Amino acid sequence: MFLYLFAAFVLYKVIEEDRHLRSVLQKKFAQKENLAILGQMSSNIIHEIRNPLTTIKGFSTLLNNKLADNELRSYCQLMLKETDNINKVISAFYRYAKPQSPSFKELFLDEIIINLKASIDPKCQENNISILYNLNCAEMQVLADLEQLQEVILHVVQNSIEALEGRSDGKIEISTSYSRLTDEVVLQIIDNGRGMTREEKLLAGTPFYSLKNNSVGLGLSICYQYINKHNGYIEIHSNLGMGTDLSIFLPSLTSNKKTSHLSISN
Ligand SMILES: Nc1ncnc2c1ncn2[C@@H]1O[C@H](COP(=O)(O)OP(=O)(O)O)[C@@H](O)[C@H]1O
Ligand SMILES: [Mg+2]
Repeated sequence: MFLYLFAAFVLYKVIEEDRHLRSVLQKKFAQKENLAILGQMSSNIIHEIRNPLTTIKGFSTLLNNKLADNELRSYCQLMLKETDNINKVISAFYRYAKPQSPSFKELFLDEIIINLKASIDPKCQENNISILYNLNCAEMQVLADLEQLQEVILHVVQNSIEALEGRSDGKIEISTSYSRLTDEVVLQIIDNGRGMTREEKLLAGTPFYSLKNNSVGLGLSICYQYINKHNGYIEIHSNLGMGTDLSIFLPSLTSNKKTSHLSISN
Protein backbone atom coordinates (compact mmCIF):
# COMPACT_ATOMS: atom_id res chain seq x y z
CA MET A 1 0.00 0.00 0.00
CA PHE A 2 2.76 2.38 1.05
CA LEU A 3 4.66 1.51 -2.15
CA TYR A 4 1.59 2.35 -4.29
CA LEU A 5 1.19 5.66 -2.53
CA PHE A 6 4.87 6.45 -2.98
CA ALA A 7 4.75 5.51 -6.71
CA ALA A 8 1.63 7.69 -7.18
CA PHE A 9 3.38 10.58 -5.44
CA VAL A 10 6.49 10.25 -7.64
CA LEU A 11 4.32 10.06 -10.77
CA TYR A 12 2.40 13.16 -9.68
CA LYS A 13 5.68 15.02 -9.11
CA VAL A 14 7.04 14.00 -12.53
CA ILE A 15 3.83 15.13 -14.28
CA GLU A 16 3.81 18.38 -12.32
CA GLU A 17 7.47 19.05 -13.18
CA ASP A 18 6.80 18.26 -16.83
CA ARG A 19 3.80 20.63 -16.86
CA HIS A 20 5.88 23.37 -15.26
CA LEU A 21 8.72 22.84 -17.75
CA ARG A 22 6.30 22.92 -20.67
CA SER A 23 4.72 26.16 -19.47
CA VAL A 24 8.17 27.77 -19.02
CA LEU A 25 9.22 26.63 -22.51
CA GLN A 26 5.95 27.83 -24.03
CA LYS A 27 6.45 31.25 -22.42
CA LYS A 28 10.02 31.36 -23.73
CA PHE A 29 8.90 30.44 -27.26
CA ALA A 30 6.11 33.03 -27.09
CA GLN A 31 8.64 35.65 -25.97
CA LYS A 32 10.96 34.71 -28.84
CA GLU A 33 8.08 34.83 -31.31
CA ASN A 34 6.94 38.20 -29.96
CA LEU A 35 10.46 39.56 -30.29
CA ALA A 36 10.71 38.28 -33.86
CA ILE A 37 7.37 39.94 -34.75
CA LEU A 38 8.46 43.12 -32.96
CA GLY A 39 11.75 43.02 -34.87
CA GLN A 40 10.00 42.73 -38.23
CA MET A 41 7.44 45.42 -37.36
CA SER A 42 10.06 47.79 -36.02
CA SER A 43 12.28 47.42 -39.08
CA ASN A 44 9.33 48.45 -41.31
CA ILE A 45 8.31 51.35 -39.06
CA ILE A 46 11.90 52.53 -38.61
CA HIS A 47 12.40 52.52 -42.36
CA GLU A 48 9.25 54.68 -42.74
CA ILE A 49 10.44 57.11 -40.02
CA ARG A 50 14.09 57.35 -41.11
CA ASN A 51 13.40 58.57 -44.65
CA PRO A 52 11.30 61.65 -43.73
CA LEU A 53 13.68 62.28 -40.82
CA THR A 54 16.61 62.47 -43.24
CA THR A 55 14.66 65.05 -45.27
CA ILE A 56 13.81 67.09 -42.15
CA LYS A 57 17.44 66.98 -41.03
CA GLY A 58 18.73 67.93 -44.48
CA PHE A 59 16.47 70.96 -44.83
CA SER A 60 17.00 72.07 -41.21
CA THR A 61 20.77 72.04 -41.84
CA LEU A 62 20.25 74.03 -45.05
CA LEU A 63 18.03 76.60 -43.31
CA ASN A 64 20.45 76.84 -40.40
CA ASN A 65 23.24 77.72 -42.81
CA LYS A 66 21.15 80.19 -44.83
CA LEU A 67 19.24 82.09 -42.14
CA ALA A 68 20.73 85.32 -40.84
CA ASP A 69 18.29 85.74 -37.97
CA ASN A 70 19.74 84.27 -34.76
CA GLU A 71 16.38 83.38 -33.25
CA LEU A 72 15.30 81.48 -36.37
CA ARG A 73 18.69 79.73 -36.44
CA SER A 74 18.19 78.61 -32.84
CA TYR A 75 14.86 76.98 -33.90
CA CYS A 76 16.68 75.12 -36.65
CA GLN A 77 19.33 73.95 -34.18
CA LEU A 78 16.58 72.70 -31.87
CA MET A 79 15.02 70.81 -34.79
CA LEU A 80 18.41 69.24 -35.58
CA LYS A 81 18.92 68.22 -31.96
CA GLU A 82 15.47 66.68 -31.76
CA THR A 83 15.89 64.74 -35.02
CA ASP A 84 19.14 63.34 -33.59
CA ASN A 85 17.24 62.31 -30.47
CA ILE A 86 14.56 60.53 -32.52
CA ASN A 87 17.30 58.79 -34.48
CA LYS A 88 18.95 57.63 -31.25
CA VAL A 89 15.66 56.26 -29.89
CA ILE A 90 14.75 54.37 -33.05
CA SER A 91 18.19 52.89 -33.52
CA ALA A 92 18.25 51.69 -29.87
CA PHE A 93 14.81 50.16 -30.39
CA TYR A 94 15.95 48.51 -33.63
CA ARG A 95 19.10 47.10 -32.02
CA TYR A 96 17.01 45.68 -29.17
CA ALA A 97 14.17 44.24 -31.27
CA LYS A 98 16.31 42.99 -34.15
CA PRO A 99 19.77 42.27 -32.75
CA GLN A 100 22.56 41.47 -35.20
CA SER A 101 23.96 37.98 -34.85
CA PRO A 102 27.39 38.30 -33.29
CA SER A 103 30.40 37.73 -35.45
CA PHE A 104 32.75 35.95 -33.05
CA LYS A 105 36.50 36.38 -33.09
CA GLU A 106 39.25 35.43 -30.65
CA LEU A 107 40.01 38.71 -28.91
CA PHE A 108 42.21 39.89 -26.04
CA LEU A 109 39.95 41.51 -23.46
CA ASP A 110 42.55 43.94 -22.08
CA GLU A 111 43.41 45.07 -25.60
CA ILE A 112 39.76 45.94 -26.27
CA ILE A 113 39.72 48.13 -23.16
CA ILE A 114 43.05 49.79 -23.92
CA ASN A 115 41.73 50.68 -27.38
CA LEU A 116 38.60 52.17 -25.79
CA LYS A 117 40.64 54.51 -23.57
CA ALA A 118 40.62 57.09 -26.38
CA SER A 119 36.81 57.28 -26.10
CA ILE A 120 36.45 56.82 -22.34
CA ASP A 121 39.19 59.11 -20.97
CA PRO A 122 38.08 62.39 -22.60
CA LYS A 123 34.48 61.79 -21.48
CA CYS A 124 35.65 61.25 -17.90
CA GLN A 125 37.90 64.30 -18.05
CA GLU A 126 35.01 66.43 -19.35
CA ASN A 127 32.94 65.31 -16.36
CA ASN A 128 35.72 65.68 -13.77
CA ILE A 129 35.77 61.96 -13.10
CA SER A 130 38.99 60.13 -12.30
CA ILE A 131 39.37 56.84 -14.09
CA LEU A 132 41.50 53.91 -13.05
CA TYR A 133 42.30 50.86 -15.15
CA ASN A 134 43.32 47.70 -13.41
CA LEU A 135 43.84 45.16 -16.16
CA ASN A 136 44.98 41.67 -15.28
CA CYS A 137 44.08 39.65 -18.35
CA ALA A 138 46.66 40.67 -20.94
CA GLU A 139 47.00 37.12 -22.20
CA MET A 140 43.38 36.14 -21.83
CA GLN A 141 41.27 35.75 -24.91
CA VAL A 142 37.52 35.65 -25.25
CA LEU A 143 35.34 34.65 -28.15
CA ALA A 144 33.51 37.88 -28.85
CA ASP A 145 31.98 40.24 -31.34
CA LEU A 146 34.23 43.31 -31.11
CA GLU A 147 31.55 45.88 -31.92
CA GLN A 148 29.01 44.42 -29.52
CA LEU A 149 31.50 44.12 -26.67
CA GLN A 150 32.73 47.68 -27.26
CA GLU A 151 29.12 48.91 -27.25
CA VAL A 152 28.44 47.12 -23.95
CA ILE A 153 31.56 48.56 -22.25
CA LEU A 154 30.94 52.08 -23.50
CA HIS A 155 27.30 51.93 -22.45
CA VAL A 156 28.04 50.70 -18.94
CA VAL A 157 30.73 53.39 -18.55
CA GLN A 158 28.23 55.98 -19.82
CA ASN A 159 25.73 54.83 -17.17
CA SER A 160 28.44 55.28 -14.53
CA ILE A 161 29.24 58.77 -15.83
CA GLU A 162 25.53 59.65 -15.64
CA ALA A 163 25.29 58.20 -12.12
CA LEU A 164 28.17 60.48 -11.07
CA GLU A 165 26.55 63.67 -12.32
CA GLY A 166 26.93 66.52 -9.84
CA ARG A 167 29.70 64.85 -7.82
CA SER A 168 33.11 66.41 -7.49
CA ASP A 169 34.86 63.22 -6.28
CA GLY A 170 33.57 60.91 -9.02
CA LYS A 171 35.61 57.77 -9.68
CA ILE A 172 35.28 54.93 -12.14
CA GLU A 173 37.40 51.81 -12.04
CA ILE A 174 37.58 49.37 -14.91
CA SER A 175 39.20 46.10 -14.02
CA THR A 176 39.66 42.69 -15.56
CA SER A 177 40.45 39.45 -13.82
CA TYR A 178 40.35 35.74 -14.37
CA SER A 179 38.43 33.32 -12.19
CA ARG A 180 40.25 30.00 -12.22
CA LEU A 181 37.35 28.41 -10.36
CA THR A 182 34.78 29.07 -13.07
CA ASP A 183 37.23 29.54 -15.96
CA GLU A 184 35.69 32.93 -16.68
CA VAL A 185 37.06 36.33 -17.47
CA VAL A 186 35.47 39.08 -15.38
CA LEU A 187 35.20 42.68 -16.49
CA GLN A 188 34.16 45.00 -13.67
CA ILE A 189 33.03 48.60 -14.02
CA ILE A 190 32.77 50.23 -10.62
CA ASP A 191 31.61 53.75 -9.80
CA ASN A 192 30.99 55.70 -6.61
CA GLY A 193 27.86 57.32 -8.06
CA ARG A 194 24.29 57.55 -6.81
CA GLY A 195 23.85 53.77 -6.66
CA MET A 196 20.52 51.98 -6.79
CA THR A 197 17.88 50.81 -4.36
CA ARG A 198 17.08 47.09 -4.28
CA GLU A 199 14.06 47.65 -6.48
CA GLU A 200 15.97 49.81 -8.99
CA LYS A 201 18.63 47.12 -9.19
CA LEU A 202 16.02 44.49 -9.99
CA LEU A 203 14.43 46.68 -12.65
CA ALA A 204 17.69 47.78 -14.30
CA GLY A 205 17.93 46.00 -17.63
CA THR A 206 14.17 45.63 -18.05
CA PRO A 207 13.28 47.06 -21.47
CA PHE A 208 12.17 50.69 -21.29
CA TYR A 209 13.05 51.07 -17.60
CA SER A 210 14.84 54.35 -17.02
CA LEU A 211 15.00 56.92 -14.26
CA LYS A 212 16.44 59.51 -16.63
CA ASN A 213 14.61 62.19 -18.58
CA ASN A 214 14.85 61.80 -22.34
CA SER A 215 16.18 58.26 -22.13
CA VAL A 216 14.71 55.17 -23.75
CA GLY A 217 15.87 52.73 -21.08
CA LEU A 218 17.07 50.12 -23.56
CA GLY A 219 20.82 50.43 -22.89
CA LEU A 220 21.22 47.70 -20.29
CA SER A 221 18.62 45.48 -22.02
CA ILE A 222 20.79 45.54 -25.15
CA CYS A 223 23.90 44.83 -23.01
CA TYR A 224 22.16 41.83 -21.37
CA GLN A 225 21.09 40.55 -24.78
CA TYR A 226 24.59 40.83 -26.28
CA ILE A 227 26.35 39.26 -23.29
CA ASN A 228 23.79 36.47 -23.27
CA LYS A 229 24.66 35.69 -26.90
CA HIS A 230 28.32 35.51 -25.80
CA ASN A 231 27.38 32.78 -23.30
CA GLY A 232 28.14 35.21 -20.53
CA TYR A 233 26.15 37.02 -17.88
CA ILE A 234 25.99 40.31 -16.00
CA GLU A 235 25.79 40.85 -12.26
CA ILE A 236 25.01 44.15 -10.57
CA HIS A 237 25.92 45.02 -6.99
CA SER A 238 24.73 48.42 -5.96
CA ASN A 239 23.81 50.41 -2.87
CA LEU A 240 21.99 53.69 -2.86
CA GLY A 241 24.39 56.55 -2.18
CA MET A 242 27.41 54.23 -2.30
CA GLY A 243 27.89 53.31 -5.94
CA THR A 244 27.55 50.48 -8.38
CA ASP A 245 29.67 47.52 -9.40
CA LEU A 246 28.61 45.94 -12.67
CA SER A 247 30.45 42.75 -13.57
CA ILE A 248 30.43 41.08 -16.95
CA PHE A 249 31.40 37.40 -16.95
CA LEU A 250 32.61 35.77 -20.16
CA PRO A 251 33.88 32.25 -20.76
CA SER A 252 37.64 32.26 -21.13
CA LEU A 253 39.34 30.95 -24.24
CA THR A 254 42.83 30.73 -22.86
CA SER A 255 42.41 29.34 -19.41
CA ASN A 256 45.70 27.48 -19.58
CA LYS A 257 47.74 30.58 -20.31
CA LYS A 258 49.06 32.49 -17.35
CA THR A 259 47.60 35.89 -16.46
CA SER A 260 49.77 38.97 -16.43
CA HIS A 261 49.30 42.27 -14.70
CA LEU A 262 48.96 45.71 -16.23
CA SER A 263 47.85 48.79 -14.32
CA ILE A 264 47.21 52.19 -15.88
CA SER A 265 45.78 55.27 -14.24
CA ASN A 266 45.38 58.93 -15.12
N1 LIG B 1 25.98 52.83 -12.72
C1 LIG B 1 24.71 53.07 -12.40
N2 LIG B 1 24.42 53.72 -11.23
C2 LIG B 1 23.15 53.96 -10.87
N3 LIG B 1 22.07 53.61 -11.60
C3 LIG B 1 22.29 52.95 -12.76
C4 LIG B 1 23.61 52.65 -13.22
N4 LIG B 1 23.50 51.98 -14.39
C5 LIG B 1 22.18 51.89 -14.65
N5 LIG B 1 21.45 52.46 -13.69
C6 LIG B 1 19.98 52.54 -13.59
O1 LIG B 1 19.42 51.65 -14.54
C7 LIG B 1 18.54 52.35 -15.41
C8 LIG B 1 18.52 51.69 -16.77
O2 LIG B 1 19.76 51.86 -17.43
P1 LIG B 1 19.79 51.76 -19.00
O3 LIG B 1 19.13 50.51 -19.43
O4 LIG B 1 21.18 51.99 -19.43
O5 LIG B 1 18.85 52.94 -19.47
P2 LIG B 1 19.09 54.50 -19.46
O6 LIG B 1 20.55 54.74 -19.22
O7 LIG B 1 18.65 54.93 -20.81
O8 LIG B 1 18.24 55.05 -18.36
C9 LIG B 1 19.03 53.78 -15.39
O9 LIG B 1 18.01 54.71 -15.72
C10 LIG B 1 19.49 53.94 -13.95
O10 LIG B 1 18.40 54.23 -13.11
MG1 LIG C 1 22.00 53.84 -20.17
